[in-house]
Amino acid sequence: MTDANDDSGTILVTGGAGYIGAHISHALASSGRRVAVLDDLSTGTADRLPDGVPFVEGDVGDARVVSAVLGDLGVTSVIHIAAKKQVGESVARPLWYYRQNVTAMATLLECCVDAGVDRFLFSSSAATYGMATDGLISEDTPAQPINPYGESKLIGEWLLADVARSAGLSYAALRYFNVAGAATPELGDPGVFNLIPMVFDALTRGEAPRIFGADWPTPDGTCIRDYVHIADLADAHICALDALAAGSGGSGGGAEVNGLVLNVGTGEGSSVQEVIDAIGRVLGRPVGAQVVARRPGDPAALVAKVDRIADVLGWTASRNLDDMVASAWEGWVALHPEAASLAT
Ligand code: UFG
Repeated sequence: MTDANDDSGTILVTGGAGYIGAHISHALASSGRRVAVLDDLSTGTADRLPDGVPFVEGDVGDARVVSAVLGDLGVTSVIHIAAKKQVGESVARPLWYYRQNVTAMATLLECCVDAGVDRFLFSSSAATYGMATDGLISEDTPAQPINPYGESKLIGEWLLADVARSAGLSYAALRYFNVAGAATPELGDPGVFNLIPMVFDALTRGEAPRIFGADWPTPDGTCIRDYVHIADLADAHICALDALAAGSGGSGGGAEVNGLVLNVGTGEGSSVQEVIDAIGRVLGRPVGAQVVARRPGDPAALVAKVDRIADVLGWTASRNLDDMVASAWEGWVALHPEAASLAT
């Protein structure tokens, strides 16, 4: 077993070629850490990787590939991002989500234990909370996911806690709220699955963006979410790894493992209308939206209580909604140059 304070090993980022994973890989590489990436390129692209980072194309559920990567690269820490993350798709294809997010993760963990990996950082989600809506959501709010995606992430946390207890692994599960923005334009989100890219997409096609319901029990009637800048999210991963290396999230010498389960958000909610207004500020013109029916399964408000991550990691978000929207727009234009003329 490696010394818990020995940082000389490699950090493996699964899913490191995707939107979130690539940001984390870049943040790790630019902070001087030794990093490697495993990604099946099902949604990610190799051109997002930092220069010089070892990259293996493969599936986290493939024990042969994972074991070889862990051994060959001297991996001591794993940041597990590779997963499916679309709620609607998870409802349509639950078994596929369980295979990708649960079965593959079990294989990855088994390989990590066999290889003597010391630390494991898991990309979890606010989707684990389900419909919890009353005010700020703390990590002690009961996790009651309402779709297979959220269920698969919660099961991932359970797998990790159980394996950590039996194998002496230190771990953190970071429950992401609504991740947005880009650290640099070339790392922008290529997917059109979330509010900000969906608004950009509608505008690029000459259509009015849609608001899924304006009759929610919120001040302006539109849903409230906690949007967190992806560069802040990447910093949170570095803080979490440092905390694990310093002895948090482990057994502390006893049998009980105290894994870190932490919300990653800003603690501030923004309504759909406020996000659209921020997009208008970035584009330099008002953006008119059309109100359509509520989207099934949406909670009215999801805002993180962020005291625990501030206490435990000393991390707080430093970028605001306008930073997220402006950087997301630069990323969008890099991928869709025809949209540039929409901004005045
Ligand atoms: N919305 C619109 N119009 C759109 C798109 C979205 O009004 O065109 C609304 C949604 O109804 C919701 C809000 O914008 O109220 C945010 O929706 P997103 O689809 O961007 O994000 P969700 O809050 O549904 O889910 C996201 C991630 C999940 C994660 C969750 C955690 O997609 O994976 O945040 O809070 F679990």
